Amino acid sequence: MDQAARETDSKQVAGLLAEFDGPQALKAAASGVREAGYTRFEAYSPFPVHGIDAAMGRRRTLLPWLVLGGGIAGGLGALLLQWWTNAVDYPYLISGKPWFSLPANIPVVFEAIILLSALAAFGGGLALSGLPELFHPLLSCARFRRATTDGFFLGIDASDPQFDESRTAALLRSLGAGETELYDRPRTEQKVPRPLVMAVVVAACLALLPPLWIARVRATRSASPRLHLVSDMDFQPKYLPQQSSPLFGDGRAMRPPVEGTMAVDQRGDDPHLLRGEVEGQPATTFPVAVTSDRMKRGRSRYDIYCATCHGLAGDGDGITSQLAFEREEPKWVRPLSVHSQVVRDQPVGQLFQTISDGIRTMPGYSSQISVEDRWAVVLYVLALQRGRHATLEDVPTELRRHLDTALQGDARTPDTER
Ligand code: HEC
Repeated sequence: MDQAARETDSKQVAGLLAEFDGPQALKAAASGVREAGYTRFEAYSPFPVHGIDAAMGRRRTLLPWLVLGGGIAGGLGALLLQWWTNAVDYPYLISGKPWFSLPANIPVVFEAIILLSALAAFGGGLALSGLPELFHPLLSCARFRRATTDGFFLGIDASDPQFDESRTAALLRSLGAGETELYDRPRTEQKVPRPLVMAVVVAACLALLPPLWIARVRATRSASPRLHLVSDMDFQPKYLPQQSSPLFGDGRAMRPPVEGTMAVDQRGDDPHLLRGEVEGQPATTFPVAVTSDRMKRGRSRYDIYCATCHGLAGDGDGITSQLAFEREEPKWVRPLSVHSQVVRDQPVGQLFQTISDGIRTMPGYSSQISVEDRWAVVLYVLALQRGRHATLEDVPTELRRHLDTALQGDARTPDTER
Protein backbone atom coordinates (compact mmCIF):
# COMPACT_ATOMS: atom_id res chain seq x y z
CA MET A 1 0.00 0.00 0.00
CA ASP A 2 1.45 3.37 -0.87
CA GLN A 3 1.72 6.33 1.46
CA ALA A 4 -1.11 8.31 -0.24
CA ALA A 5 -3.63 5.53 0.10
CA ARG A 6 -2.74 5.14 3.74
CA GLU A 7 -3.35 8.80 4.43
CA THR A 8 -6.81 8.74 2.91
CA ASP A 9 -7.62 5.74 5.07
CA SER A 10 -5.97 6.85 8.29
CA LYS A 11 -8.68 5.31 10.47
CA GLN A 12 -7.17 1.93 9.71
CA VAL A 13 -3.85 2.83 11.35
CA ALA A 14 -3.47 0.86 14.55
CA GLY A 15 -0.21 2.34 15.76
CA LEU A 16 3.42 3.10 15.17
CA LEU A 17 6.27 0.68 15.67
CA ALA A 18 9.85 1.86 16.17
CA GLU A 19 12.96 -0.27 16.40
CA PHE A 20 15.88 0.46 18.71
CA ASP A 21 19.43 -0.83 18.88
CA GLY A 22 19.42 -2.45 22.29
CA PRO A 23 17.95 -2.55 25.76
CA GLN A 24 19.58 0.73 26.89
CA ALA A 25 18.26 2.63 23.87
CA LEU A 26 14.83 1.10 24.38
CA LYS A 27 14.79 2.15 28.03
CA ALA A 28 15.87 5.71 27.22
CA ALA A 29 13.24 5.93 24.47
CA ALA A 30 10.56 4.63 26.83
CA SER A 31 11.23 7.40 29.35
CA GLY A 32 11.38 9.95 26.52
CA VAL A 33 7.98 8.87 25.20
CA ARG A 34 6.52 8.94 28.71
CA GLU A 35 7.90 12.44 29.33
CA ALA A 36 6.34 13.56 26.05
CA GLY A 37 2.96 12.67 27.61
CA TYR A 38 2.14 9.37 25.90
CA THR A 39 0.30 6.76 27.96
CA ARG A 40 -0.73 3.99 25.52
CA PHE A 41 2.51 2.42 24.43
CA GLU A 42 4.27 -0.85 24.96
CA ALA A 43 7.88 -2.03 24.85
CA TYR A 44 8.81 -5.36 23.26
CA SER A 45 12.11 -7.13 23.81
CA PRO A 46 13.43 -10.69 23.45
CA PHE A 47 14.28 -10.78 27.17
CA PRO A 48 13.09 -8.85 30.25
CA VAL A 49 14.76 -5.44 30.42
CA HIS A 50 15.46 -4.32 33.98
CA GLY A 51 13.96 -0.98 34.90
CA ILE A 52 11.78 -0.74 31.80
CA ASP A 53 8.60 -0.68 33.93
CA ALA A 54 9.83 2.37 35.82
CA ALA A 55 10.99 4.02 32.60
CA MET A 56 7.55 3.50 31.06
CA GLY A 57 5.89 4.75 34.24
CA ARG A 58 4.05 1.48 34.81
CA ARG A 59 2.51 1.06 38.24
CA ARG A 60 2.48 -2.22 40.08
CA THR A 61 -0.29 -4.54 38.96
CA LEU A 62 -3.27 -5.72 40.94
CA LEU A 63 -2.04 -9.31 40.78
CA PRO A 64 -0.50 -9.56 44.30
CA TRP A 65 -3.78 -8.44 45.80
CA LEU A 66 -5.71 -10.98 43.73
CA VAL A 67 -3.39 -13.73 44.95
CA LEU A 68 -3.76 -12.55 48.55
CA GLY A 69 -7.54 -12.55 48.16
CA GLY A 70 -7.47 -16.04 46.66
CA GLY A 71 -5.34 -17.33 49.53
CA ILE A 72 -7.57 -15.79 52.20
CA ALA A 73 -10.71 -17.10 50.51
CA GLY A 74 -9.17 -20.60 50.25
CA GLY A 75 -8.05 -20.71 53.88
CA LEU A 76 -11.31 -19.37 55.31
CA GLY A 77 -13.39 -21.56 53.00
CA ALA A 78 -11.54 -24.73 53.99
CA LEU A 79 -11.80 -23.86 57.69
CA LEU A 80 -15.51 -23.11 57.41
CA LEU A 81 -16.20 -26.28 55.44
CA GLN A 82 -14.43 -28.50 57.99
CA TRP A 83 -16.12 -26.78 60.89
CA TRP A 84 -19.54 -27.11 59.28
CA THR A 85 -19.19 -30.74 58.21
CA ASN A 86 -17.38 -32.11 61.29
CA ALA A 87 -18.74 -30.02 64.13
CA VAL A 88 -22.18 -28.83 63.02
CA ASP A 89 -23.85 -30.76 60.24
CA TYR A 90 -22.65 -34.28 61.12
CA PRO A 91 -20.78 -34.32 64.45
CA TYR A 92 -18.94 -37.61 64.72
CA LEU A 93 -16.96 -38.40 67.84
CA ILE A 94 -13.55 -39.89 67.10
CA SER A 95 -11.59 -41.20 70.11
CA GLY A 96 -12.94 -38.47 72.35
CA LYS A 97 -11.30 -35.71 70.34
CA PRO A 98 -12.93 -32.27 70.29
CA TRP A 99 -15.49 -31.64 67.57
CA PHE A 100 -13.43 -28.81 66.21
CA SER A 101 -9.80 -27.98 66.80
CA LEU A 102 -7.52 -25.81 64.74
CA PRO A 103 -4.41 -28.05 64.57
CA ALA A 104 -6.38 -30.93 63.05
CA ASN A 105 -7.62 -28.65 60.28
CA ILE A 106 -4.28 -27.07 59.34
CA PRO A 107 -3.31 -29.47 56.50
CA VAL A 108 -6.50 -28.92 54.51
CA VAL A 109 -6.46 -25.17 55.19
CA PHE A 110 -2.85 -25.02 54.02
CA GLU A 111 -3.60 -26.94 50.82
CA ALA A 112 -6.64 -24.80 50.05
CA ILE A 113 -4.62 -21.59 50.53
CA ILE A 114 -1.99 -22.84 48.09
CA LEU A 115 -4.58 -24.04 45.57
CA LEU A 116 -6.66 -20.88 45.44
CA SER A 117 -3.59 -18.58 45.45
CA ALA A 118 -2.16 -20.49 42.51
CA LEU A 119 -5.44 -20.39 40.61
CA ALA A 120 -5.80 -16.66 41.33
CA ALA A 121 -2.22 -16.05 40.11
CA PHE A 122 -2.84 -18.04 36.93
CA GLY A 123 -6.30 -16.74 36.09
CA GLY A 124 -5.56 -13.20 37.27
CA GLY A 125 -2.34 -13.07 35.23
CA LEU A 126 -4.23 -14.12 32.10
CA ALA A 127 -7.13 -11.74 32.69
CA LEU A 128 -4.97 -8.72 33.53
CA SER A 129 -2.89 -9.28 30.38
CA GLY A 130 -6.05 -9.48 28.29
CA LEU A 131 -5.39 -13.07 27.28
CA PRO A 132 -6.29 -15.22 25.47
CA GLU A 133 -5.99 -12.98 22.42
CA LEU A 134 -6.24 -14.67 19.06
CA PHE A 135 -4.79 -11.87 16.98
CA HIS A 136 -2.90 -8.62 17.45
CA PRO A 137 -2.41 -6.01 14.67
CA LEU A 138 1.37 -6.03 15.31
CA LEU A 139 1.50 -9.63 14.10
CA SER A 140 1.08 -8.33 10.54
CA CYS A 141 4.47 -6.51 10.66
CA ALA A 142 7.17 -8.80 9.30
CA ARG A 143 9.80 -6.83 11.21
CA PHE A 144 8.07 -7.40 14.51
CA ARG A 145 8.77 -11.14 14.43
CA ARG A 146 12.32 -10.33 15.53
CA ALA A 147 10.95 -9.22 18.90
CA THR A 148 11.49 -12.79 20.04
CA THR A 149 15.09 -13.03 18.80
CA ASP A 150 17.06 -9.76 18.63
CA GLY A 151 14.65 -6.87 18.01
CA PHE A 152 13.87 -4.11 20.54
CA PHE A 153 10.65 -2.29 19.73
CA LEU A 154 8.43 0.43 21.06
CA GLY A 155 4.83 0.43 19.83
CA ILE A 156 2.60 3.47 20.33
CA ASP A 157 -1.11 2.84 19.99
CA ALA A 158 -3.08 5.07 17.63
CA SER A 159 -5.73 5.53 20.29
CA ASP A 160 -3.29 7.56 22.41
CA PRO A 161 -4.53 11.22 22.65
CA GLN A 162 -1.05 12.50 21.75
CA PHE A 163 -0.80 10.28 18.67
CA ASP A 164 -0.10 11.94 15.37
CA GLU A 165 1.53 9.98 12.57
CA SER A 166 4.25 12.43 11.60
CA ARG A 167 4.89 14.08 14.98
CA THR A 168 5.07 10.77 16.80
CA ALA A 169 7.42 9.33 14.19
CA ALA A 170 9.65 12.40 14.49
CA LEU A 171 9.72 12.11 18.26
CA LEU A 172 10.72 8.46 18.07
CA ARG A 173 13.44 9.19 15.59
CA SER A 174 14.77 11.95 17.82
CA LEU A 175 14.87 9.39 20.63
CA GLY A 176 17.18 7.20 18.54
CA ALA A 177 14.82 4.93 16.65
CA GLY A 178 16.39 3.24 13.60
CA GLU A 179 13.25 2.47 11.64
CA THR A 180 9.64 3.45 12.26
CA GLU A 181 6.68 1.76 10.70
CA LEU A 182 2.93 2.35 10.82
CA TYR A 183 0.95 -0.79 11.29
CA ASP A 184 -2.69 -1.32 10.33
CA ARG A 185 -5.75 -2.83 11.76
CA PRO A 186 -6.69 -5.88 9.75
CA ARG A 187 -9.08 -4.90 6.94
CA THR A 188 -11.18 -7.98 7.20
CA GLU A 189 -12.49 -9.32 10.45
CA GLN A 190 -10.01 -11.91 11.72
CA LYS A 191 -11.79 -15.23 11.99
CA VAL A 192 -11.22 -17.96 14.54
CA PRO A 193 -9.86 -20.99 12.64
CA ARG A 194 -12.64 -23.37 11.60
CA PRO A 195 -11.18 -26.57 13.08
CA LEU A 196 -10.91 -24.80 16.44
CA VAL A 197 -14.58 -23.76 16.29
CA MET A 198 -15.58 -27.32 15.39
CA ALA A 199 -13.53 -28.78 18.27
CA VAL A 200 -15.15 -26.41 20.77
CA VAL A 201 -18.65 -27.24 19.48
CA VAL A 202 -18.00 -31.00 19.71
CA ALA A 203 -16.54 -30.65 23.22
CA ALA A 204 -19.55 -28.60 24.34
CA CYS A 205 -21.94 -31.25 23.01
CA LEU A 206 -20.01 -34.03 24.76
CA ALA A 207 -20.05 -32.05 28.01
CA LEU A 208 -23.85 -32.08 27.85
CA LEU A 209 -24.01 -35.88 27.94
CA PRO A 210 -23.33 -36.48 31.66
CA PRO A 211 -25.98 -33.99 32.92
CA LEU A 212 -28.48 -35.43 30.40
CA TRP A 213 -27.73 -38.94 31.61
CA ILE A 214 -28.17 -37.88 35.25
CA ALA A 215 -31.47 -36.16 34.42
CA ARG A 216 -32.71 -39.30 32.68
CA VAL A 217 -31.95 -41.69 35.53
CA ARG A 218 -33.43 -39.28 38.05
CA ALA A 219 -36.66 -39.13 36.08
CA THR A 220 -37.04 -42.87 35.50
CA ARG A 221 -37.42 -45.68 38.03
CA SER A 222 -35.69 -48.98 37.82
CA ALA A 223 -34.73 -51.72 40.24
CA SER A 224 -31.29 -52.13 38.71
CA PRO A 225 -28.41 -49.85 39.69
CA ARG A 226 -28.61 -46.49 37.98
CA LEU A 227 -25.22 -46.68 36.37
CA HIS A 228 -23.19 -49.82 36.37
CA LEU A 229 -20.11 -49.26 34.25
CA VAL A 230 -18.08 -52.14 35.64
CA SER A 231 -20.46 -55.01 36.23
CA ASP A 232 -17.87 -57.44 37.65
CA MET A 233 -19.85 -60.58 38.49
CA ASP A 234 -23.01 -58.79 39.64
CA PHE A 235 -25.11 -60.06 36.78
CA GLN A 236 -24.70 -63.73 36.13
CA PRO A 237 -26.99 -66.62 35.25
CA LYS A 238 -28.00 -68.22 38.56
CA TYR A 239 -30.99 -69.51 40.53
CA LEU A 240 -32.36 -67.64 43.49
CA PRO A 241 -34.22 -69.36 46.37
CA GLN A 242 -37.72 -70.65 45.51
CA GLN A 243 -37.21 -70.35 41.74
CA SER A 244 -38.20 -73.07 39.33
CA SER A 245 -35.84 -74.89 37.03
CA PRO A 246 -36.48 -77.34 34.19
CA LEU A 247 -33.21 -79.02 35.09
CA PHE A 248 -34.63 -81.34 37.79
CA GLY A 249 -37.57 -83.72 37.73
CA ASP A 250 -39.47 -81.92 40.47
CA GLY A 251 -39.09 -78.58 38.67
CA ARG A 252 -37.47 -76.88 41.67
CA ALA A 253 -34.15 -75.09 41.53
CA MET A 254 -33.60 -75.68 45.28
CA ARG A 255 -32.42 -79.18 46.14
CA PRO A 256 -33.53 -80.90 49.33
CA PRO A 257 -30.63 -81.64 51.71
CA VAL A 258 -28.99 -85.03 51.42
CA GLU A 259 -30.59 -87.60 53.75
CA GLY A 260 -29.17 -87.30 57.27
CA THR A 261 -27.65 -83.81 56.80
CA MET A 262 -27.64 -81.44 59.75
CA ALA A 263 -26.47 -77.91 60.16
CA VAL A 264 -23.16 -77.18 61.82
CA ASP A 265 -23.63 -76.82 65.61
CA GLN A 266 -27.13 -78.17 65.44
CA ARG A 267 -26.32 -81.64 66.70
CA GLY A 268 -29.82 -82.79 67.41
CA ASP A 269 -31.04 -80.50 70.09
CA ASP A 270 -28.96 -81.11 73.17
CA PRO A 271 -29.90 -78.31 75.60
CA HIS A 272 -27.22 -79.39 78.04
CA LEU A 273 -24.40 -79.11 75.50
CA LEU A 274 -25.72 -76.20 73.44
CA ARG A 275 -27.38 -74.00 76.06
CA GLY A 276 -25.99 -75.25 79.36
CA GLU A 277 -29.50 -76.19 80.46
CA VAL A 278 -30.88 -79.29 82.20
CA GLU A 279 -34.65 -79.36 82.53
CA GLY A 280 -34.83 -75.62 82.06
CA GLN A 281 -32.31 -74.90 84.84
CA PRO A 282 -28.62 -73.97 84.46
CA ALA A 283 -26.62 -77.19 84.34
CA THR A 284 -24.45 -78.09 87.32
CA THR A 285 -22.39 -80.66 85.42
CA PHE A 286 -20.27 -80.64 82.28
CA PRO A 287 -21.75 -82.19 79.11
CA VAL A 288 -18.21 -82.82 77.83
CA ALA A 289 -15.38 -84.89 79.28
CA VAL A 290 -13.22 -83.00 81.80
CA THR A 291 -9.63 -83.68 80.73
CA SER A 292 -6.36 -81.88 81.18
CA ASP A 293 -6.22 -81.28 77.38
CA ARG A 294 -9.54 -79.48 77.57
CA MET A 295 -8.24 -77.48 80.53
CA LYS A 296 -5.21 -76.37 78.46
CA ARG A 297 -7.49 -75.49 75.56
CA GLY A 298 -9.69 -73.51 77.94
CA ARG A 299 -6.71 -71.60 79.25
CA SER A 300 -5.57 -70.66 75.74
CA ARG A 301 -9.11 -69.50 74.75
CA TYR A 302 -9.51 -67.58 78.00
CA ASP A 303 -6.18 -65.81 77.50
CA ILE A 304 -7.25 -64.84 73.98
CA TYR A 305 -10.88 -63.87 74.44
CA CYS A 306 -11.40 -62.95 78.10
CA ALA A 307 -8.09 -61.78 79.56
CA THR A 308 -8.12 -58.42 77.76
CA CYS A 309 -11.03 -57.38 79.96
CA HIS A 310 -11.04 -59.75 82.92
CA GLY A 311 -7.25 -60.01 83.35
CA LEU A 312 -5.09 -63.13 83.12
CA ALA A 313 -6.02 -64.12 86.67
CA GLY A 314 -9.68 -63.12 86.34
CA ASP A 315 -9.68 -60.11 88.66
CA GLY A 316 -11.36 -57.81 86.18
CA ASP A 317 -8.17 -55.80 85.58
CA GLY A 318 -7.34 -56.65 81.94
CA ILE A 319 -5.44 -54.14 79.80
CA THR A 320 -8.54 -52.64 78.16
CA SER A 321 -10.06 -52.17 81.58
CA GLN A 322 -6.92 -50.50 82.94
CA LEU A 323 -6.75 -48.21 79.93
CA ALA A 324 -10.40 -47.28 80.27
CA PHE A 325 -9.87 -46.30 83.90
CA GLU A 326 -6.72 -44.36 83.08
CA ARG A 327 -8.69 -42.40 80.51
CA GLU A 328 -11.67 -42.07 82.83
CA GLU A 329 -14.01 -43.40 80.14
CA PRO A 330 -17.43 -42.46 81.49
CA LYS A 331 -19.24 -45.46 80.01
CA TRP A 332 -16.80 -48.18 80.98
CA VAL A 333 -18.19 -50.86 83.34
CA ARG A 334 -15.52 -52.71 85.25
CA PRO A 335 -15.65 -56.42 84.25
CA LEU A 336 -16.73 -58.48 87.24
CA SER A 337 -14.00 -60.46 88.97
CA VAL A 338 -14.58 -64.18 88.37
CA HIS A 339 -13.51 -64.65 91.99
CA SER A 340 -16.38 -62.62 93.37
CA GLN A 341 -18.86 -64.57 95.44
CA VAL A 342 -21.76 -64.08 92.95
CA VAL A 343 -19.77 -65.67 90.18
CA ARG A 344 -18.34 -68.44 92.38
CA ASP A 345 -21.85 -69.41 93.39
CA GLN A 346 -22.93 -69.86 89.78
CA PRO A 347 -23.45 -73.33 88.30
CA VAL A 348 -21.31 -74.16 85.25
CA GLY A 349 -24.36 -73.90 82.98
CA GLN A 350 -24.82 -70.26 83.93
CA LEU A 351 -21.16 -69.46 83.23
CA PHE A 352 -21.61 -71.13 79.84
CA GLN A 353 -24.65 -68.97 79.14
CA THR A 354 -22.77 -65.79 80.12
CA ILE A 355 -19.99 -66.66 77.68
CA SER A 356 -22.44 -67.63 74.91
CA ASP A 357 -24.95 -64.81 75.17
CA GLY A 358 -23.07 -62.11 77.07
CA ILE A 359 -24.54 -60.32 80.06
CA ARG A 360 -25.60 -56.69 80.44
CA THR A 361 -22.61 -54.76 79.06
CA MET A 362 -20.52 -57.81 78.19
CA PRO A 363 -20.90 -59.11 74.61
CA GLY A 364 -21.63 -62.78 73.80
CA TYR A 365 -18.95 -64.97 72.26
CA SER A 366 -21.00 -67.71 70.59
CA SER A 367 -20.08 -66.46 67.13
CA GLN A 368 -16.37 -66.59 67.89
CA ILE A 369 -15.85 -69.48 70.29
CA SER A 370 -17.16 -72.96 69.42
CA VAL A 371 -19.44 -74.86 71.82
CA GLU A 372 -16.66 -77.21 72.96
CA ASP A 373 -14.27 -74.33 73.48
CA ARG A 374 -16.85 -72.41 75.52
CA TRP A 375 -17.15 -75.36 77.87
CA ALA A 376 -13.34 -75.48 77.99
CA VAL A 377 -13.31 -71.81 79.04
CA VAL A 378 -15.85 -72.56 81.77
CA LEU A 379 -13.55 -75.31 83.00
CA TYR A 380 -10.61 -72.94 83.12
CA VAL A 381 -12.64 -70.28 84.96
CA LEU A 382 -13.42 -72.89 87.61
CA ALA A 383 -9.71 -73.65 87.82
CA LEU A 384 -8.92 -69.95 88.28
CA GLN A 385 -11.49 -69.69 91.05
CA ARG A 386 -10.24 -72.82 92.77
CA GLY A 387 -6.64 -71.64 92.49
CA ARG A 388 -7.50 -68.40 94.26
CA HIS A 389 -9.30 -70.16 97.12
CA ALA A 390 -7.07 -73.21 97.39
CA THR A 391 -6.50 -74.98 100.73
CA LEU A 392 -3.86 -77.52 101.70
CA GLU A 393 -6.35 -80.27 100.94
CA ASP A 394 -6.28 -79.26 97.25
CA VAL A 395 -2.65 -80.33 96.96
CA PRO A 396 -2.35 -83.95 95.71
CA THR A 397 -0.85 -86.27 98.35
CA GLU A 398 2.18 -87.18 96.25
CA LEU A 399 3.09 -83.47 96.12
CA ARG A 400 2.43 -82.86 99.82
CA ARG A 401 5.94 -84.05 100.77
CA HIS A 402 7.59 -81.43 98.57
CA LEU A 403 5.25 -78.81 99.89
CA ASP A 404 6.05 -79.68 103.51
CA THR A 405 9.81 -79.42 102.96
CA ALA A 406 9.32 -76.18 101.06
CA LEU A 407 7.27 -74.71 103.88
CA GLN A 408 9.90 -75.80 106.45
CA GLY A 409 12.59 -74.27 104.25
CA ASP A 410 10.73 -71.01 104.37
CA ALA A 411 10.67 -71.15 108.14
CA ARG A 412 14.49 -71.35 108.35
CA THR A 413 16.32 -68.05 108.45
CA PRO A 414 18.46 -67.27 105.40
CA ASP A 415 21.64 -67.29 107.57
CA THR A 416 21.31 -70.90 108.71
CA GLU A 417 20.60 -71.90 105.15
CA ARG A 418 24.06 -70.88 104.02
C1 HEC B 1 -15.05 -56.55 76.40
C2 HEC B 1 -14.69 -56.88 77.75
C3 HEC B 1 -15.04 -58.27 78.21
C4 HEC B 1 -14.63 -59.48 77.69
C5 HEC B 1 -13.71 -59.71 76.50
C6 HEC B 1 -15.22 -60.48 78.50
N1 HEC B 1 -15.96 -59.93 79.48
FE1 HEC B 1 -16.92 -60.93 80.96
N2 HEC B 1 -17.62 -59.19 81.67
C7 HEC B 1 -17.34 -57.94 81.17
C8 HEC B 1 -18.07 -56.94 81.89
C9 HEC B 1 -17.99 -55.44 81.64
C10 HEC B 1 -18.83 -57.63 82.87
C11 HEC B 1 -19.77 -57.03 83.87
C12 HEC B 1 -21.09 -56.81 83.14
C13 HEC B 1 -21.99 -55.86 83.89
O1 HEC B 1 -22.01 -55.94 85.11
O2 HEC B 1 -22.65 -55.08 83.20
C14 HEC B 1 -18.52 -59.03 82.68
C15 HEC B 1 -19.05 -60.03 83.45
C16 HEC B 1 -18.66 -61.33 83.40
C17 HEC B 1 -19.10 -62.37 84.30
C18 HEC B 1 -20.07 -62.19 85.44
C19 HEC B 1 -21.47 -62.42 84.95
C20 HEC B 1 -22.51 -62.18 86.06
O3 HEC B 1 -23.26 -63.11 86.30
O4 HEC B 1 -22.54 -61.07 86.57
C21 HEC B 1 -18.48 -63.51 83.91
C22 HEC B 1 -18.62 -64.87 84.55
C23 HEC B 1 -17.68 -63.20 82.76
N3 HEC B 1 -17.80 -61.90 82.49
C24 HEC B 1 -16.88 -64.13 82.10
C25 HEC B 1 -16.22 -63.85 80.92
C26 HEC B 1 -15.52 -64.84 80.13
C27 HEC B 1 -15.37 -66.31 80.50
C28 HEC B 1 -15.03 -64.20 79.06
C29 HEC B 1 -14.24 -64.81 77.88
C30 HEC B 1 -15.02 -65.65 77.03
C31 HEC B 1 -15.38 -62.80 79.18
N4 HEC B 1 -16.11 -62.63 80.31
C32 HEC B 1 -15.01 -61.84 78.29
C33 HEC B 1 -16.50 -57.64 80.13
C34 HEC B 1 -15.88 -58.59 79.34
